[in-house]
Amino acid sequence: MKSDTKNNLKIPNHIAFIMDGNGRWATKRLLPRKAGHKEGVKTMKKVIADCVELGIKYISFYAFSTENKNRPKDEVDALMKLIRDNIYVMLKELIDKGVRVVFMGDLSYFSEDIRESLERVIAESADGKKAVVNIGLNYGSRDEIVKAVNECIEEGVSVDEASFARHLYTAQLPDPDVIVRTSGEMRLSNFMLYQAAYSEMIVTKTLWPDFGRKDLESILREYSDRERRFGKI
Ligand code: IPE
Ligand code: IPE
Ligand code: MG
Repeated sequence: MKSDTKNNLKIPNHIAFIMDGNGRWATKRLLPRKAGHKEGVKTMKKVIADCVELGIKYISFYAFSTENKNRPKDEVDALMKLIRDNIYVMLKELIDKGVRVVFMGDLSYFSEDIRESLERVIAESADGKKAVVNIGLNYGSRDEIVKAVNECIEEGVSVDEASFARHLYTAQLPDPDVIVRTSGEMRLSNFMLYQAAYSEMIVTKTLWPDFGRKDLESILREYSDRERRFGKI
């Protein structure tokens, strides 16, 4: 956690978002669920820009879980189309501003054209120094943990906290200081189970497509008031 402040706010080094509530946002408006996901992409772009502007260095998003693959085919297809059509376009402007983008999850699930756009985003943003944006795609923390253990075994590496962490998708990232979940659900849903050991959890009732600058500032105010003890007194 950085001690710098902006408007008397403590600015976390790493903030992670479990972007939830897209479907409910759409259903409330009698729209198909995919309309909520489309709106959610716009929110994500604005939130990245706001976080960068506030000086947050690491920004993670849970965009598609290993379990989300089991949703009805038309919803999964709509999500794939959204990723295909938007990922590069959405991130290009941010990449040009010096944001580095990485992905976590089993990307082998995605079609070749999607994987190519992800690779393009990774390559074009590799020198970005302003902030790191980490997007979970086909990400599941249990899958990540099992993969890390198997890699340690295959490499003959003895498993300790340091070697294990080096085999997680998040090897290059610090643990999140704060995990934000929108839409009022109070669970991690297989997100960063290992990395969340000492993360502050903040749940807001706001549905992800409605999440804006004011919500972000209110979360940072709440985070600033939390006392983090890490097991000490
Ligand atoms: C989060 O919104 C986005 C994804 C999981 C892809 P949901 O689609 O889970 O929206 P709700 O929870 O059904 O409202
Ligand atoms: C978590 O939301 C996954 C993402 C935000 C990508 P879900 O909507 O899938 O989680 P549950 O099913 O409510 O736990
Ligand atoms: Mg949900």
